[in-house]
Amino acid sequence: MEPAQKDRTPFADIDGLSAQMSAMVLAALTEMGQHPEIRRVRRTAYEQLRPAPGQRLLDAGSGSGEVARLLAAEVGTFGEVVAVDHAASVTAAAVGLHDGSNVRYLTGDVCALDLPGGGFDGVWCERVLQHVDDPDVAIAEMIRVTRPGGRICLIDTDWSSLAFDGMPSGLGEVVLDHACGHFTPRRLDMGRTLRRRMVAAGLRDLSATPVTCLFGTPESAAVVLPMVNPRVPEDKWPTPPGVRDEWLECVAAAGASGTFLAVLTIWVVAGTVGVRT
Ligand SMILES: C[S@@+](CC[C@H](N)C(=O)[O-])C[C@H]1O[C@@H](n2cnc3c(N)ncnc32)[C@H](O)[C@@H]1O
Repeated sequence: MEPAQKDRTPFADIDGLSAQMSAMVLAALTEMGQHPEIRRVRRTAYEQLRPAPGQRLLDAGSGSGEVARLLAAEVGTFGEVVAVDHAASVTAAAVGLHDGSNVRYLTGDVCALDLPGGGFDGVWCERVLQHVDDPDVAIAEMIRVTRPGGRICLIDTDWSSLAFDGMPSGLGEVVLDHACGHFTPRRLDMGRTLRRRMVAAGLRDLSATPVTCLFGTPESAAVVLPMVNPRVPEDKWPTPPGVRDEWLECVAAAGASGTFLAVLTIWVVAGTVGVRT
């Protein structure tokens, strides 16, 4: 068992958040889905999952269900997408956004899926494993519910790749240090570990693509990086006194002078399930 992630990031237990934080997290999911860099990550994932008409697909940790609905358009009327999320409030929000496509929304844990074995042609799991207690158990569950020859596509952040330019050196490190375990999971390297985990789980035909996202303004960065988002409540910033305000002032100044830059790598890793012996 790896270090527990529960109560460490807002996404680990959205149902346990205050109504204000829960609404903020849901709005953040929608905003992220519209960000051009997240869309670039998703295009890469589409190429690796290769969704096709008639398929049954699982979106594991589906959030607001946006990707599930996009996948439903690919599988068409003879296919189906099952969207599973741990948080009942998130599942309810996803149902509220439903567009009539072939998506079935369920509340459930990706580490213990209440779904029969071998029923899916493919699985999409985006920015979820960094929040779960044991990602290898989740990967084993995704393999169990996928038919031999089906494809699993994992997408996750490598928070240890996050870097800034345009701000005073040293300050960013202090902020990142204090973000760890609050905004970001304690396990910062999930993205880069996905390939190794898939190899260990026996998946074949692996493809692994690091997509480095570039944020050229604080406004663009704030959609994906909570530590540059001034709308995140002050009590969620566990920084030493004054550091948050100094950091945000520097971020704003770098934005005003056009010198702000942030980069973050998100990994897209896919593999094919082998024949079970
Ligand atoms: C960062 S969001 C990503 C949502 C969606 N995949 C997307 O890309 O928009 C992480 C999601 O994982 C869900 N989640 C966290 N732990 C989970 C678990 N053990 N099983 C299923 N979903 C989980 C959260 O409720 C949240 O909706």
